This record gives sequence, C-alpha cells and structure tokens, in this order.
Amino acid sequence: MRVMLTGGAGYIGSHTAAALAARGHQVVIFDNFANAERDVPARLERLTGQKMPVIEADIRDVPAVVAALREYPVDAVIHFAALKAVGESEADPLLYYDMNIIGTIRLLQAMQQAGVARIVFSSSATVYGQPDSSPILEDFPTRVENIYGRTKLVMEDLIRDLARTGKLAAAANLRYFNPVGAHPSALIGETPRGVPNNLMPYVTQVATGARPHLNVFGNDYATPDGTGVRDYIHVVDLAEAHALALEHIVANNVSITVNLGTGEGTSVLQLVQAFETATGRKIPLVIAPRRPGDVSSYYANPALAEATFGWRAKLNVEDMCRDSWRWQASRAGINDV
Ligand SMILES: NC(=O)c1ccc[n+]([C@@H]2O[C@H](COP(=O)([O-])OP(=O)(O)OC[C@H]3O[C@@H](n4cnc5c(N)ncnc54)[C@H](O)[C@@H]3O)[C@@H](O)[C@H]2O)c1
Repeated sequence: MRVMLTGGAGYIGSHTAAALAARGHQVVIFDNFANAERDVPARLERLTGQKMPVIEADIRDVPAVVAALREYPVDAVIHFAALKAVGESEADPLLYYDMNIIGTIRLLQAMQQAGVARIVFSSSATVYGQPDSSPILEDFPTRVENIYGRTKLVMEDLIRDLARTGKLAAAANLRYFNPVGAHPSALIGETPRGVPNNLMPYVTQVATGARPHLNVFGNDYATPDGTGVRDYIHVVDLAEAHALALEHIVANNVSITVNLGTGEGTSVLQLVQAFETATGRKIPLVIAPRRPGDVSSYYANPALAEATFGWRAKLNVEDMCRDSWRWQASRAGINDV
C-alpha cells in the first residue's frame, strides 16, 4: 500500500514509517515540522532504504492536503499530527481545538475531496479519564479530564460518525497507553522540546546529566510501592500495531476502536529501577507532591487488538529503557552505551 502519515516526522509517526517500510509499504510524510527535526526523513531513508516523499505543510491547509493526495495517490492516511501536552491544552484551549479538532476536520475534508476513505487515528488512553478500575477495556466509559483529552474524544467521534455514515470505508481509532523507547538503531527517537512532560524522556535526561534529579510526583498512592502505575509500551511495538491495524481495516473494510498497551502496569520506581539495571546509570530521586489530575494506576486490557489483528506487545520494560537510553545517549554524544 501507499500510505500518507500526517505528523510522519514526529516521534510515533517516524517509527510507524519505519514499520510500514519494513512490511513493504510506501510512505508519504506530511508534516509542518512544528515538533519534528528536519533530518528525520534522511534518517528514515538510512534506516529503511526507502526515500519517502515529504510534504511540508499544515493539515488545516485543505488545498495543500488535497494537492499532496493527488500527487501521491494513497490507499489510506495515518493521522498523527496534533498537539499533545495536557498542561498546554489547559493554558490555551482554543489552540488545541484549532490544531486538533479543526485540523482533523480539514484533513477529513481534504481526504473526501481526494477520494481517500481509510484512516488510522492516534487516540489515547486519556479518553478513559480516571478509570474505575484496571485493566481497562474498550467499552469502559470515556471521560474528559482536560482539554487535550476532549480533543482526542471529539476526533474519535468525528471519525466514528464518518465511518457509520459511510463517508469513510474503514477506520481505526488506536488508544495508546504510554509510548516510550526508540528504534534500537538510535536513528530515530523522541526529542521533546524544553522540559519533558513524560517520565522516560525526563529519566534519560537525568542520566545524561542534563537534569539533576527526577521528581517523583507522589509516593502515597494506593499502589504496591506508592508511586503511580502506568502501562508503558515500546514505540516499536506501537508502530507495528499501526501497520497490522491498517492492513486489517483495509482488507476487511471495517472500523475499530482498540487499546494499544502491554497489559502490564509499571510503577515509577519500578521503571527507574529497570532503567538503572538496563543502563548502569544512577537516577537520583526527589519525592514531590502529587500533581493535580494524575491518576494513581491504569493499564490496558490489550486482548481486543490481539483478537482483531493479531498484535501483542513483544518488548519489555528493560528493552524500553535500553533503547530510550541508547537514543538519548547518542543525542548527547555519550559513547559508552
Ligand atoms: N507520545 C505520547 O505519549 C502519545 C500518547 C497518546 C497519543 N499520542 C498521540 O499520537 C500522535 C503522535 O504523537 P507523537 O508523540 O509522535 O507527537 P510528535 O509531536 O512527536 O508528532 C506530531 C507530529 O505532527 C506534526 N504536526 C503537528 N501539528 C501539525 C499540523 N497542524 N500540520 C502538520 N503537521 C503537524 C509535528 O511537527 C510532529 O512531527 C499525537 O496525535 C498524539 O496526541 C501520543
């Protein structure tokens, strides 16, 4: 297949580009590079041997998306392009409505004009809000806890509506749990701008010496060691899931909503311990107060993804730590990895 990836130069998009290329698909990257490094397409070419066309434009620019889809007729779009910081979304809701919701509407309009009727969408476990229990199943109630989460839910609903009314032939809403790690080649990975919002990039920056210590937000949660529990998923596994989900919905003309997680909960302290073991680096910790809005524990029941398109995560927390570190160390010019 030929597939256009909006946000294809970003963290999850670039790994999915590599996974698609490895399965023999052609990739077209559509990205405005607002949160991506310029050399990602060249790194992807080194990694995959595939020269992927790059369209530098905004998904809200309907003529630009239509032109791209006419120049490179595709079988489907995988839609990663979005803003993703919860705190920023609360500080500037209209920015998030515009980039994420309007952006998705414009993309869907452009796809309709160009006759492309299949989409895979990057959703998030954030749509479950504070779940009543874990493991979380896809039919658990959805809850909005912040503006970012609302945009994800609205975007999912838009896609489900278009599928239900026959405007889309096939669609997959993929609800990611906590993506971490990097490609083992260390050619692509996550490059957060400023202070990382997520745990793993923060840990790797402490390991390079860029930050003095890790703040652990709360050690009095009702979890085995008191720190928050999440379902970390290696980005390479996540990328593979996109390829399999896409192949499934295209082959069967169906629309699905599925969790993508490992099904295993890992606490902050367990993750730090695994990182220290995998890398030999010590991570100094400071216990800080809980952050408002943080959930104590959540993890996926990923059985539906396995039953539907035969995917399950293969990589464990040590793999995630080792590959995150290899990537971050290579960026920091540290060679003893
Ligand atoms: N990383 C996570 O923890 C996580 C978890 C759940 C869901 N998601 C979702 O997965 C998707 C990808 O996340 P990521 O971590 O790879 O983020 P990212 O910021 O690395 O990738 C997003 C890409 O989209 C591009 N982009 C942003 N706005 C655009 C626009 N208007 N037009 C064109 N390109 C635009 C950026 O330049 C970037 O390359 C997002 O939709 C995000 O909400 C991410």
